[in-house]
Amino acid sequence: MAAVVVALLCVFPSFVSPRGSAPPAADATPRLPDVVIIGVKKGGTRALIEMLSLHSDVVAAQNEVHFFDWDSHFQRGADWYVSQMPRARPGQLTVEKTPAYFTSSRVPERILQTLPDVRLMLIVREPTERLLSDYTQLFHNRLEKRKHQESLESLLMRDGELNLDYKALNRSLYHVHLQRWLAIFPRTRLHLVDGDALVREPLAEMKKAEQFLQLQPQINASHFYFNQTKGFYCLRERRRQRCLHRSKGRKHPRVSPEVLRKLHEYFREPNLKFFQLAGRTFDWK
Ligand SMILES: *[C@@H]1O[C@H](CO)[C@@H](O)[C@H](O)[C@H]1NC(C)=O
Ligand SMILES: *[C@@H]1O[C@H](CO)[C@@H](O)[C@H](O)[C@H]1NC(C)=O
Ligand SMILES: *[C@@H]1O[C@H](CO)[C@@H](O)[C@H](O)[C@H]1NC(C)=O
Repeated sequence: MAAVVVALLCVFPSFVSPRGSAPPAADATPRLPDVVIIGVKKGGTRALIEMLSLHSDVVAAQNEVHFFDWDSHFQRGADWYVSQMPRARPGQLTVEKTPAYFTSSRVPERILQTLPDVRLMLIVREPTERLLSDYTQLFHNRLEKRKHQESLESLLMRDGELNLDYKALNRSLYHVHLQRWLAIFPRTRLHLVDGDALVREPLAEMKKAEQFLQLQPQINASHFYFNQTKGFYCLRERRRQRCLHRSKGRKHPRVSPEVLRKLHEYFREPNLKFFQLAGRTFDWK
């Protein structure tokens, strides 16, 4: 049977060059985050935090902090968490992103206790594409470590049925995880970003994000330019340009159309449940 190349499904960009840092003002100091991007893994969290950083009233932690999901970090306490944050001037918002938070069971309660006024952001993509991207990343991690690579089919299928224990599949069951968050936080505290739309039309998604964060509208069309060769947008900031790259030039595993069909079919019902919880729909075919 003909195999479908997953190339197009794995293009979610990440940024190549690190952000240059302006010298901090004297009144700038690290603070607890005002905003936490909680996920989802392979949803476009790096692109989102880089784009938020275009705004002069936003400062972002460089690394994924894993404060709330790793006990070894959480036990170090809030002072350690603050020490992981960039300097922020009064009036600036501090943002961190750790995509593993979304699917980690103890995290919502811990965030509420530590950051009672936090605003949360969640960026999601079409769940089959996210799963394939998740698998591709793990596949290449194993490749680099010269470990045996299992085919997606062998991980995903058990006796002709989908294997519901496969973690990458579970991570795409957004409603299961969102339910836990909405048991702790009111829906108005959480902003959903459409990761597929962010790639196609970043400005529109970023304007919604500015609104949610009550930032002065500042991000505009001149911050983005389309790179024809790459096929997606790059960022322009104070004459510096930063580009996305395509899965680090990774070769993409092949997936049979039969498996793709099963996945699309499987996610139909969970997607509807997610739309209902979210109070909005996404254009997922
Ligand atoms: C997915 O994971 C969550 C929590 O990690 C668990 O409660 C749930 O039962 C899992 N769902 C399936 C279908 O395996
Ligand atoms: C876009 O934003 C930049 C930086 O805030 C500003 O310098 C520029 O004038 C704006 N451009 C337009 C077209 O509004
Ligand atoms: C566009 O992308 C190509 C291919 O990755 C790259 O070589 C080039 O520098 C990019 N151009 C701009 C203006 O970003």
